[in-house]
Amino acid sequence: MKQFISVKDITNLNELVNEALALKKDPFAFETLGKGKTIGLVFLNSSLRTRMSSQKAAQNLGMEVMVLNAGQDAWNWEFEEGAIMNGTTVEHIKDAARVLSEYCDIIGIRCFAGLKNKEEDIQEKTLSLFMKYATVPVVSLESATLHPLQSLADCITIAEHPVTKPKPKVVLTWAPHIKSIPHAVANSFSEWMQASDVDFVITHPKGYELDEKYTQNAVVTTNQEEALKDADFVYVKNWSSFTDYGQVLPTKEDWMLTPEKLAVTNSAKIMHCLPVRRNVEVSDAVLDSENSLIYEQAKNRIYSAQVVFKKILEQL
Ligand code: CP
Repeated sequence: MKQFISVKDITNLNELVNEALALKKDPFAFETLGKGKTIGLVFLNSSLRTRMSSQKAAQNLGMEVMVLNAGQDAWNWEFEEGAIMNGTTVEHIKDAARVLSEYCDIIGIRCFAGLKNKEEDIQEKTLSLFMKYATVPVVSLESATLHPLQSLADCITIAEHPVTKPKPKVVLTWAPHIKSIPHAVANSFSEWMQASDVDFVITHPKGYELDEKYTQNAVVTTNQEEALKDADFVYVKNWSSFTDYGQVLPTKEDWMLTPEKLAVTNSAKIMHCLPVRRNVEVSDAVLDSENSLIYEQAKNRIYSAQVVFKKILEQL
């Protein structure tokens, strides 16, 4: 593996999930693989899980870890090619990427969608520029359109809860939020579910259609109750409108997930990538129920990162 920015960078999802589960059983089995190697974790945006789980994953493999909060602590980056830098930006991303490559054997970078310029976001302007100038493998720690380490952790979590029918029904349901939220987690989950052996349904209010690029083979409905029927896994996530780019649109129905709504499911397991707005997106009663997998997902972030770093280290 030379980079990890989407599901397209893996060759066999089942094998990767099984390898991650083996690492979960024996996290230090490859504790010398990363000896003498350094991973740089670069954050242009906030993080709890990605930051800590990636650090732990790298440490389990014996790597040195350097973290740069580029959105706060570093020089203010310039993202325009050919810019005359006589304004507030101090360092061009091309120089930052090249210099960081001198210090690190692998670089992870988090660069959210700005939700202001749709074209720039869907073209992954920041990640693409960084990868153009970095000279070492790059891992997405969540980009403008995708969050592959989260999705792999979600696949690992689903695999740990087999169902007694040929394929589980997995439902991605939109949830309310007070802020404008990017589409990366939802896009990515959709991509990875379509690569998995599951029946996958997406439900959201009208106006919240995701980019069709990521939902091509999924069943999509605006009827949440219909979608939730017989679901084995319900993944809750907010995203802003893609059509009215970045806007929070008014909704007629209440889309917050509650125990009452789950009554039509097959005692569904509940998933959310976190952080979650409790009692806005999902009620406490659901999040704190015995069917909630939210902390298992967070734990599996370690092993999704660890298996990806291991695959890259093996090819350095
Ligand atoms: N789920 C997730 O990526 O969490 P953080 O934003 O805290 O890293």
